[in-house]
Amino acid sequence: MEKKFNRTLVTSALPYANGGIHIGHLAGVYVPADIYVRYLRLKGEEVLFIGGSDEHGVPVTIRAKKEGITVQEVVDRYHNLIKDSFAEFGISFDVYSRTTSDTHKKHASDFFRKLYDTGKFVELESEQFYDEAAQEFLTDRNIKGECPRCHAADAYGDQCEKCGSTLSPEELINPYNAATGNTLVKRPTSHWYLPLDNYQGWLEKWILEEHKEWRPNVYGQCKSWLDLGLRPRAVTRDLNWGIPVPVEGAEGKVLYVWFDAPIGYISNTKELLPNDWEKWWKSEDTKLVHFIGKDNIVFHCIVFPTMLKAEGSYILPDNVPSNEFLNLEDDKISTSRNWAVWLHEYLVDFPGKQDVLRYVLTANAPETKDNNFTWADFQARNNNELVAVYGNFVNRALQLTKKYYNGVVPACGEITEFDQATIDEFRSIKAKIETLLDGYRFRDALKEAMNMARIGNKYLADSEPWKVVKTEPERVKTIINVSLQMAANLAIAFEAFLPFSSAQLRQMLNLGALTWEDLGRMDLLPADHQLAEPALLFEKIEDEAIAAQMQRLEDIKKANEAANYRAEEVLPDTDFDNFLKLDLRVGTVLACERVPKMKKLLKFLIADGLENRTIVSGIAQHYEPEQLVGKQVCFVANFPPRKFKDGLVSEGMILSAVNADGTLSVMTTDREVLPGSKVQ
Ligand code: MF3
Ligand code: ZN
Repeated sequence: MEKKFNRTLVTSALPYANGGIHIGHLAGVYVPADIYVRYLRLKGEEVLFIGGSDEHGVPVTIRAKKEGITVQEVVDRYHNLIKDSFAEFGISFDVYSRTTSDTHKKHASDFFRKLYDTGKFVELESEQFYDEAAQEFLTDRNIKGECPRCHAADAYGDQCEKCGSTLSPEELINPYNAATGNTLVKRPTSHWYLPLDNYQGWLEKWILEEHKEWRPNVYGQCKSWLDLGLRPRAVTRDLNWGIPVPVEGAEGKVLYVWFDAPIGYISNTKELLPNDWEKWWKSEDTKLVHFIGKDNIVFHCIVFPTMLKAEGSYILPDNVPSNEFLNLEDDKISTSRNWAVWLHEYLVDFPGKQDVLRYVLTANAPETKDNNFTWADFQARNNNELVAVYGNFVNRALQLTKKYYNGVVPACGEITEFDQATIDEFRSIKAKIETLLDGYRFRDALKEAMNMARIGNKYLADSEPWKVVKTEPERVKTIINVSLQMAANLAIAFEAFLPFSSAQLRQMLNLGALTWEDLGRMDLLPADHQLAEPALLFEKIEDEAIAAQMQRLEDIKKANEAANYRAEEVLPDTDFDNFLKLDLRVGTVLACERVPKMKKLLKFLIADGLENRTIVSGIAQHYEPEQLVGKQVCFVANFPPRKFKDGLVSEGMILSAVNADGTLSVMTTDREVLPGSKVQ
């Protein structure tokens, strides 16, 4: 039985405010969600698109500690960065708010309280790791210790990054607080749990029987969770960042981030429509659709629906289109390794090319399996599809109109059989795109839109108006008219996918807003309609631009390798004794000059606290001698003198830090110290 809906509420996962947005986020969640809502709006449907930042949870607190700033500063910074990136890429939220808003804090708190008051939670006591010195309970990510599998010294409480094992903090050998190094004890603490097990039967029916149409990856994950048997899940945490648990005696406890964040969809709707939000969340004729990435499936298909069901007054999602992951040049996208294409950086290198990225990410979207973004593919799709097909067709139609008719739309004469066949084929694609978009198959839908442009391109190539413009002027008017009508149709067909280009195309055609219903009409441009000046919709991307991106990735890879120096083998204590024998000192550079005929060498005169000493160092390619005079440098003072040509003798070794690309930076002191001070 098909449900009858009157409006659609679209949500997209609230990104954590602990970093920027990269192509993986865009391809997985935000571009498909945006295509969907733009399509519904074009169809004149009632639709709302909800977004926002997820500002609670442990990752933002870790980021704050790392950067030495407050958590509020972290979330402010990234919320704004994320919001700007989305705006720049045309992600057309009706509201983009945040889970630290007052509306949200109150709504999430009330939601919890209602479940609490109606007895929907169970309270359970458990033993958790506690740092007595810092007086805090620790979450899995904040605990480190020796890995029980590979014995790496610094595995996390949830995972060992060295051997990849999934862990629980109990398994760690000698667990400690990752931030302070303090050792930990176990302490009992009590939390509220959502008894998912009580909802098992209901969930099985709702998902496994009533939502067989969900994507196989989503359905499959739900099934495997349900097959395992659900267990109660804690919805509170001992943390000092989050929404306080609104229960007396629960001081120091906050709502678990995965409890409050999805409620953010509701709060943000409420913020936008304080008087009207309930229609969107509580009436059965609203279709609720969650766009998410695959790591969010269990929360959106099992936990959040159970929360909504337990509360009792909300609707449930009709679908949860979830994408798999996008890799970058065959490697997992990773924020910590900086292995990503960040939106704010992309726009610096490719200004104005938002649609190119939207196109490539959709054409190659990881809808059914993990997929790979490569710069070569990015270039090829831009040059061979956007430029050579869509852009080329539009440009030829507009340029010919300009050349033959001064940019005025010629009247359409007699339609030949060939014209009609082309028009029929062109129109037939509309239904295909609709079916695909209604089924969340954005990638195939985009291919069909591109096929419409192909038909246009082929029409011009086959009818060759430029050959007959002199001999058959009436025929050419018809060809150009039909071509221009098709170009106008493309502005509609591509609107949801490539909104910037469609706006530009409509501007060149001197057309106002169009609707989905207009798609297929061959009278969008009346005869004698004046067009605007044509310009290229897309430009070729040259090899150099791609090479620069590859070089950037290469540099990141090298830097990661250089930074990843975790010792393979721990040195024996005797080596440490040897290390202590090194006499490291600070000296002031009194003079510095190049050594004749020795390109690499600089000769230093160093004030070392006793007498002055000469040190020769092979860093001439990295510094002009005068840059170093007056600086305090660090040197090894007790190596035997080393002889060079022409009686030159070096009495020590200057220490430098080496970048991944081999460039050097001399080690200097943060504050001035007396020459001869020991380094320890
Ligand atoms: N912040 C989560 C993530 O990036 C997603 C939260 S979605 C919400 O994985 F539903 F909780 F909002
Ligand atoms: Zn390990």
